[in-house]
Amino acid sequence: MDSGNIDSSKRSLINWLLGAGVFAWIGGIFAAFFQYLKPSQSNVANLNYISLGLESKLEDPKNKFKLKNNQMIFPFGEKKLILVKIDINKYKVFSAQCTHAGCIVEWKANEKIFFCNCHGGKFDINGKNIAGPPPSPLPEYKVVLKKGEMFVTERQNEV
Ligand code: FES
Repeated sequence: MDSGNIDSSKRSLINWLLGAGVFAWIGGIFAAFFQYLKPSQSNVANLNYISLGLESKLEDPKNKFKLKNNQMIFPFGEKKLILVKIDINKYKVFSAQCTHAGCIVEWKANEKIFFCNCHGGKFDINGKNIAGPPPSPLPEYKVVLKKGEMFVTERQNEV
C-alpha cells in the first residue's frame, strides 16, 4: 500500500466525519426550532387565563389584540375565543368554535347574535343556541379587569 492511498482514505474519512458533524448540527438547529414553534401539551393544558393588555388600547389598530367592528377572535391555548363589546366597558367572551362542527362564529351586532356561516347556526347574546343545527350553547369565558388590564379566563378566580 503506498502513502498516496493512505492519505486519500484519511482525507475521505475526515470529509465524511465533517459532513456528518455538519448534518447533525443542522438537524439540532431544526429540532430546536420546531420544538420552539410547537408548545408542549402541558403548557397548553395549564393555560388558565390570557391578558389582552390595557382595555383602553383595545381599539388601537397598532395593538396586538384589537377590536374590529366591536369583536375580535384570539387564541386561548389551542382554542379560539371571540370577544364582543356589547356596550361601553361591557364585554362578553365565548368559545368561537361552533358547537355543531367547529366552524368559527362571528358577531352580528345589528341582530345581536353569533352567526355560524357553515350551516347557518345562530346563538344569542348569552351564547345559547337558538337556530340551526348547533346542539348546545357556546361555552362562556369570564372577562376580568384589573387596573385597566383585561384578562380572559375560564373561571373568575383564576387571575
Ligand atoms: S358548524 Fe356551525 S352550524 Fe354547522
